Amino acid sequence: AFELILWGLLGYGLGSIPFGMILARLMGLGNLRAIGSGNIGATNVLRTGNKLAAALTLLLDGGKGAVAVLLARGFAGEDAVQLAALAAFLGHCYPVWLGFRGGKGVATFLGIWLALAWPVGVACCATWLAAAAVSRISSMGALAAAAFSSIWAVMLGHGTALALSIVLTLLIFWRHRENIARIRAGTESRIGQKG
Ligand code: G3P
Repeated sequence: AFELILWGLLGYGLGSIPFGMILARLMGLGNLRAIGSGNIGATNVLRTGNKLAAALTLLLDGGKGAVAVLLARGFAGEDAVQLAALAAFLGHCYPVWLGFRGGKGVATFLGIWLALAWPVGVACCATWLAAAAVSRISSMGALAAAAFSSIWAVMLGHGTALALSIVLTLLIFWRHRENIARIRAGTESRIGQKG
C-alpha cells in the first residue's frame, strides 16, 4: 500500500506540471487565463497564435501522462500503472500549484493511452482528429475521443483498463461542461479562430 501511495504521488506530481502555463510565460505569450477559454491546454495556447508553443504544450502535457505510465510499468506492477495514470490525469486537472484550477485533461489522456495500450491511444487520437476535422472544434474532438475510448479499449483487448477508461471519460466530460454548453448554444470557438 505504501508503494501505491508513492506511485500516486509521483503520478500526481508529474501531471500537475502546467506546461502550457510555463511555456506561455517563458515565450512571452501573455496570461492564458485572459485568453480564449482561459484554459491552460494546447487548444488555448494555440489561441495566442503561437503554433510551436501549442504543439509543445500538447507534446509535454501528453508526455507527462505517458511518462507516469511508463515509469510505473518499469518499476512496479499493473495496479501501480493504472493508479499512476489516474493520478497524472488528476494532477493535470487539479494541480495544487494553481489552486487546483488546472486543465481539461485531453492531451494527458491521449498520452496515458498511448503508453498504456498504444493501439487504443492511436484509435483515440484518430477519433479526436476525425471529430475535430468535421466540426472544426477542439472540444468536439476531445468529447468524441473520450466517449469512444472505452469502446476502443474493449474492442482492442484492453478491457482490464475499462474502469480507468470510464473514470477518465466522465472526468473529461465534467471538465468540458462549459464547452458543452457553448457547443449547444452554437458559440464554441473554431480551430484557427482566436479568442
Ligand atoms: O483540450 C481542451 C479542449 O478540448 C478544449 O479547450 O480551450 O477550447 O476549452 P478550450
